[in-house]
Amino acid sequence: MTFEYDLRATVRTIPDYPKPGILFRDITTLLGDARAFRRAVDELVHPWAGSKIDKVAGIEARGFILGGAVAHQVSAGFVPIRKKGKLPHTTVRIAYSLEYGLDEMEMHADAIHPGERVILVDDLIATGGTAEGAVKLLRQIGADVVAACFIIDLPDLGGAAKLRAMDVPVRTLMAFD
Ligand code: PRP
Ligand code: ADE
Repeated sequence: MTFEYDLRATVRTIPDYPKPGILFRDITTLLGDARAFRRAVDELVHPWAGSKIDKVAGIEARGFILGGAVAHQVSAGFVPIRKKGKLPHTTVRIAYSLEYGLDEMEMHADAIHPGERVILVDDLIATGGTAEGAVKLLRQIGADVVAACFIIDLPDLGGAAKLRAMDVPVRTLMAFD
Protein backbone atom coordinates (compact mmCIF):
# COMPACT_ATOMS: atom_id res chain seq x y z
CA MET A 1 0.00 0.00 0.00
CA THR A 2 1.74 3.15 -1.19
CA PHE A 3 -0.18 5.38 1.24
CA GLU A 4 0.77 3.36 4.32
CA TYR A 5 4.15 4.96 5.06
CA ASP A 6 2.85 8.54 5.05
CA LEU A 7 -0.15 7.74 7.18
CA ARG A 8 1.74 5.61 9.70
CA ALA A 9 4.17 8.46 10.31
CA THR A 10 1.29 10.71 11.37
CA VAL A 11 0.08 8.37 14.15
CA ARG A 12 1.60 9.12 17.57
CA THR A 13 2.24 6.38 20.14
CA ILE A 14 1.84 7.11 23.85
CA PRO A 15 3.10 4.41 26.25
CA ASP A 16 1.10 3.50 29.36
CA TYR A 17 -2.07 5.41 28.42
CA PRO A 18 -4.80 5.09 29.64
CA LYS A 19 -3.38 2.21 31.72
CA PRO A 20 0.11 0.78 32.35
CA GLY A 21 1.15 -1.59 29.57
CA ILE A 22 -1.07 -0.07 26.85
CA LEU A 23 0.63 1.47 23.81
CA PHE A 24 -1.96 4.07 22.87
CA ARG A 25 -2.15 4.81 19.14
CA ASP A 26 -3.14 8.48 18.99
CA ILE A 27 -4.79 9.61 15.73
CA THR A 28 -5.13 13.29 16.71
CA THR A 29 -1.83 13.90 14.93
CA LEU A 30 -3.18 12.25 11.76
CA LEU A 31 -6.39 14.26 11.97
CA GLY A 32 -4.41 17.49 12.36
CA ASP A 33 -2.48 16.82 9.14
CA ALA A 34 -4.75 17.93 6.27
CA ARG A 35 -3.18 15.60 3.69
CA ALA A 36 -3.24 12.58 5.99
CA PHE A 37 -6.84 13.17 7.09
CA ARG A 38 -8.07 13.44 3.50
CA ARG A 39 -6.09 10.41 2.42
CA ALA A 40 -7.35 8.31 5.32
CA VAL A 41 -10.99 9.13 4.55
CA ASP A 42 -10.52 8.53 0.81
CA GLU A 43 -8.77 5.20 1.35
CA LEU A 44 -11.15 3.93 4.00
CA VAL A 45 -14.10 3.85 1.59
CA HIS A 46 -12.25 3.37 -1.70
CA PRO A 47 -13.64 -0.19 -2.26
CA TRP A 48 -17.21 1.11 -1.96
CA ALA A 49 -16.87 4.13 -4.24
CA GLY A 50 -19.89 4.00 -6.52
CA SER A 51 -21.78 1.49 -4.32
CA LYS A 52 -25.06 2.48 -2.75
CA ILE A 53 -24.49 3.08 0.96
CA ASP A 54 -27.47 4.29 2.97
CA LYS A 55 -25.83 5.03 6.33
CA VAL A 56 -22.43 5.31 7.94
CA ALA A 57 -22.40 4.36 11.63
CA GLY A 58 -19.61 5.88 13.71
CA ILE A 59 -18.57 4.75 17.19
CA GLU A 60 -18.08 7.41 19.89
CA ALA A 61 -15.87 9.29 20.04
CA ARG A 62 -13.11 8.95 17.48
CA GLY A 63 -15.43 7.14 15.08
CA PHE A 64 -17.60 10.27 14.94
CA ILE A 65 -14.82 12.37 13.46
CA LEU A 66 -14.03 9.86 10.73
CA GLY A 67 -17.59 8.64 10.23
CA GLY A 68 -18.94 12.11 9.51
CA ALA A 69 -16.31 12.69 6.87
CA VAL A 70 -16.87 9.23 5.37
CA ALA A 71 -20.65 9.74 5.26
CA HIS A 72 -20.14 12.97 3.34
CA GLN A 73 -17.75 11.19 0.98
CA VAL A 74 -20.21 8.42 0.08
CA SER A 75 -23.32 10.64 0.23
CA ALA A 76 -24.83 8.61 3.09
CA GLY A 77 -26.57 9.55 6.32
CA PHE A 78 -24.63 9.39 9.59
CA VAL A 79 -25.68 7.36 12.65
CA PRO A 80 -23.95 7.83 16.02
CA ILE A 81 -23.30 4.80 18.23
CA ARG A 82 -22.85 6.36 21.66
CA LYS A 83 -21.72 5.47 25.14
CA LYS A 84 -24.79 4.77 27.31
CA GLY A 85 -27.07 7.55 28.51
CA LYS A 86 -26.31 10.11 25.80
CA LEU A 87 -29.08 9.56 23.26
CA PRO A 88 -32.49 11.18 23.87
CA HIS A 89 -34.92 8.85 22.06
CA THR A 90 -35.66 5.10 22.33
CA THR A 91 -32.44 3.10 22.09
CA VAL A 92 -31.06 -0.40 21.74
CA ARG A 93 -28.15 -1.04 24.12
CA ILE A 94 -25.36 -3.61 24.49
CA ALA A 95 -22.52 -4.19 26.98
CA TYR A 96 -19.04 -4.75 25.56
CA SER A 97 -15.41 -5.07 26.58
CA LEU A 98 -12.40 -3.41 24.96
CA GLU A 99 -8.61 -3.56 25.30
CA TYR A 100 -8.64 -1.50 28.50
CA GLY A 101 -12.13 -1.64 29.98
CA LEU A 102 -15.85 -2.41 29.99
CA ASP A 103 -18.72 -0.17 28.86
CA GLU A 104 -22.16 -0.07 27.27
CA MET A 105 -23.14 1.50 23.93
CA GLU A 106 -26.44 2.54 22.44
CA MET A 107 -28.01 3.66 19.21
CA HIS A 108 -31.44 5.00 18.38
CA ALA A 109 -33.75 2.12 17.56
CA ASP A 110 -35.17 3.98 14.55
CA ALA A 111 -31.80 5.18 13.19
CA ILE A 112 -31.70 2.60 10.42
CA HIS A 113 -34.49 1.06 8.40
CA PRO A 114 -34.46 -2.73 7.93
CA GLY A 115 -32.34 -3.70 4.94
CA GLU A 116 -30.39 -0.45 4.75
CA ARG A 117 -26.75 -0.83 3.70
CA VAL A 118 -24.44 0.40 6.43
CA ILE A 119 -20.69 0.92 6.76
CA LEU A 120 -19.33 0.91 10.31
CA VAL A 121 -16.42 3.30 10.97
CA ASP A 122 -14.00 3.67 13.86
CA ASP A 123 -10.38 4.78 14.21
CA LEU A 124 -8.94 1.52 15.51
CA ILE A 125 -9.75 -2.14 16.07
CA ALA A 126 -7.96 -3.95 18.90
CA THR A 127 -9.81 -6.82 20.62
CA GLY A 128 -12.84 -6.09 18.45
CA GLY A 129 -15.15 -5.98 21.47
CA THR A 130 -16.38 -2.50 20.58
CA ALA A 131 -16.93 -3.24 16.89
CA GLU A 132 -18.55 -6.61 17.64
CA GLY A 133 -21.04 -4.86 19.94
CA ALA A 134 -21.74 -2.26 17.26
CA VAL A 135 -22.36 -4.91 14.58
CA LYS A 136 -24.76 -6.74 16.92
CA LEU A 137 -26.71 -3.53 17.57
CA LEU A 138 -26.84 -2.70 13.86
CA ARG A 139 -28.05 -6.17 12.96
CA GLN A 140 -30.58 -6.12 15.80
CA ILE A 141 -32.37 -3.23 14.10
CA GLY A 142 -32.14 -4.82 10.66
CA ALA A 143 -29.07 -3.21 9.10
CA ASP A 144 -27.16 -4.90 6.31
CA VAL A 145 -23.58 -4.35 7.54
CA VAL A 146 -21.67 -4.03 4.26
CA ALA A 147 -18.25 -3.43 5.84
CA ALA A 148 -16.35 -2.19 8.87
CA CYS A 149 -13.51 0.31 8.26
CA PHE A 150 -10.72 1.32 10.61
CA ILE A 151 -7.54 3.30 10.11
CA ILE A 152 -5.56 1.11 12.52
CA ASP A 153 -5.55 -2.65 13.14
CA LEU A 154 -3.85 -4.25 16.14
CA PRO A 155 -3.90 -7.76 14.61
CA ASP A 156 -2.31 -9.50 17.59
CA LEU A 157 -5.48 -8.71 19.55
CA GLY A 158 -7.69 -10.51 17.02
CA GLY A 159 -10.45 -7.97 16.45
CA ALA A 160 -10.46 -7.96 12.65
CA ALA A 161 -10.52 -11.78 12.59
CA LYS A 162 -13.44 -11.73 15.03
CA LEU A 163 -15.45 -9.44 12.73
CA ARG A 164 -14.63 -11.48 9.63
CA ALA A 165 -15.90 -14.56 11.50
CA MET A 166 -19.20 -12.65 11.79
CA ASP A 167 -19.23 -12.28 7.98
CA VAL A 168 -18.33 -8.59 8.10
CA PRO A 169 -15.76 -7.50 5.47
CA VAL A 170 -13.06 -5.50 7.27
CA ARG A 171 -10.90 -2.72 5.81
CA THR A 172 -7.89 -1.35 7.68
CA LEU A 173 -5.15 1.00 6.45
CA MET A 174 -2.21 0.07 8.69
CA ALA A 175 -1.25 -2.36 11.43
CA PHE A 176 0.79 -2.06 14.62
CA ASP A 177 2.15 -4.94 16.75
C1 PRP B 1 -11.22 2.98 21.38
C2 PRP B 1 -11.25 2.98 19.87
C3 PRP B 1 -12.24 1.90 19.58
C4 PRP B 1 -12.00 0.89 20.70
C5 PRP B 1 -11.23 -0.29 20.17
O1 PRP B 1 -12.31 3.69 21.88
O2 PRP B 1 -11.62 4.25 19.37
O3 PRP B 1 -13.58 2.38 19.64
O4 PRP B 1 -11.26 1.59 21.71
O5 PRP B 1 -10.97 -1.25 21.16
P1 PRP B 1 -11.43 -2.78 21.04
O6 PRP B 1 -11.24 -3.23 19.63
O7 PRP B 1 -10.54 -3.51 22.03
O8 PRP B 1 -12.87 -2.85 21.44
P2 PRP B 1 -12.51 4.13 23.40
O9 PRP B 1 -13.49 3.20 24.05
O10 PRP B 1 -11.18 4.32 24.06
O11 PRP B 1 -13.30 5.50 23.27
P3 PRP B 1 -12.98 6.98 22.75
O12 PRP B 1 -13.04 6.93 21.24
O13 PRP B 1 -14.10 7.75 23.33
O14 PRP B 1 -11.62 7.40 23.25
N1 ADE C 1 -8.45 1.35 21.74
C1 ADE C 1 -8.17 0.09 22.18
N2 ADE C 1 -6.86 -0.12 22.23
C2 ADE C 1 -6.28 1.04 21.81
C3 ADE C 1 -4.92 1.45 21.64
N3 ADE C 1 -3.91 0.60 21.89
N4 ADE C 1 -4.68 2.71 21.20
C4 ADE C 1 -5.71 3.56 20.94
N5 ADE C 1 -7.00 3.23 21.09
C5 ADE C 1 -7.29 1.98 21.51
